[in-house]
Amino acid sequence: MKNIVIKCIFGFTLLFNASITNADSDAAFPKNWASWPIQHSAAIPNSSTPIPTNIPPIVQETIKTYNWVQDGKGSKYNVRINPMQMSSYKTRNGKFEDGPSGVLELVDIKVLLVTEHLLGEPLYGVYTYDGKEISSAHPSLSPKKCQACHTGYGEACIDGICSR
Ligand code: HEC
Repeated sequence: MKNIVIKCIFGFTLLFNASITNADSDAAFPKNWASWPIQHSAAIPNSSTPIPTNIPPIVQETIKTYNWVQDGKGSKYNVRINPMQMSSYKTRNGKFEDGPSGVLELVDIKVLLVTEHLLGEPLYGVYTYDGKEISSAHPSLSPKKCQACHTGYGEACIDGICSR
């Protein structure tokens, strides 16, 4: 949502709340992602598996948001962290350097969810393994959606990074 102010020739000021659809990735494609160490591996289950209610709410929501992938089959994934960010990642001190931070590698569909940091703020993007930008391919791939979840669950994510 962005406020747009238009000054009329009559001296009135009009204020619009315009929804700007900008689904392009904010994070760049991290060239060396495949060499980053895997910190954690798991799977998004298929969409016909009931989502357990005894797991953290952020994980339930993540499954709900992404179990459509691979025609509802879900996908295995790896979390890889850029070695340059490893000490911030391990200590969860929220002091990420400017640059790519991590990827969630959706192994079965060869897609990367990417987080980068700039001036301490997380930026998000989605790419295929070979670097094609695809964040507008599905509503749940837009940076807004990433940000909403990565900031919406309190201490579950520190400075936009959720795994541990
Ligand atoms: C509904 C919640 C949710 C949404 C939406 C979401 N994520 Fe995440 N993300 C998570 C959780 C939870 C983890 C940790 C997974 C784990 O540890 O197994 C995670 C992990 C990651 C990681 C690995 C680094 C880290 O933060 O641990 C990256 C990179 C990532 N997400 C990027 C994205 C991008 C890019 C988007 C948007 C296209 C996105 N995420 C959307 C919940 C979400």
